[in-house]
Amino acid sequence: MKRVAILISGGGSNMMALVASMTGDHPARPVLVASNDPGAAGLGKAAALGIPVAAVDHRAFGGNRGGFEAALLGPLLDARPDIICLAGFMRILTPGFVDRFAGRMLNIHPSLLPLYPGLNTHARALAAGDVQAGASVHLVTSALDDGPILGQARVPVHPGDTPETLAARVLAAEHRLYPAVLRRFAAGQTDRVDL
Ligand code: GRF
Repeated sequence: MKRVAILISGGGSNMMALVASMTGDHPARPVLVASNDPGAAGLGKAAALGIPVAAVDHRAFGGNRGGFEAALLGPLLDARPDIICLAGFMRILTPGFVDRFAGRMLNIHPSLLPLYPGLNTHARALAAGDVQAGASVHLVTSALDDGPILGQARVPVHPGDTPETLAARVLAAEHRLYPAVLRRFAAGQTDRVDL
């Protein structure tokens, strides 16, 4: 059974979708939900499900990323994860931290990478007049939102869409995509998922 740690920064809807999927014959189980924000609503949701939680407030470290990451490694290594899922985790990790978990740290990003790495993906897709949008799950490398893609989900862009209405449609697709990719990844299957 693979051990999965999930890092979040906010509400944790992707985290909840991952946790809900890890039952029955699923080859993995959640062992930790951690956040860089002690006030992240997702921590309470995970704790209510009996999952160990941890918070390391990045603000306490000013701009010292290494200090923050060293503190985060405490609860993370204690959980002995085989796989780490970044799920709405909004801190950029240093190459040293990423290399430590090379090949077993996944991230979900709300665009069809390589289109629109970074922020404001939905507004950028609308501004470009795209007719399709979506989300990507990729392996994390030291280049932001750039690692090998493990799966993508596509949704139509509707006339009159705003960044908010498009974000809601993409988020629903994320909740299908991330569990599908994690199940395959945890089982050692490397072929892409396309929804
Ligand atoms: C998701 O759209 C995810 O792709 C992005 O941040 C959002 C987080 O949502 N990185 P949640 O915290 O999982 O609800």
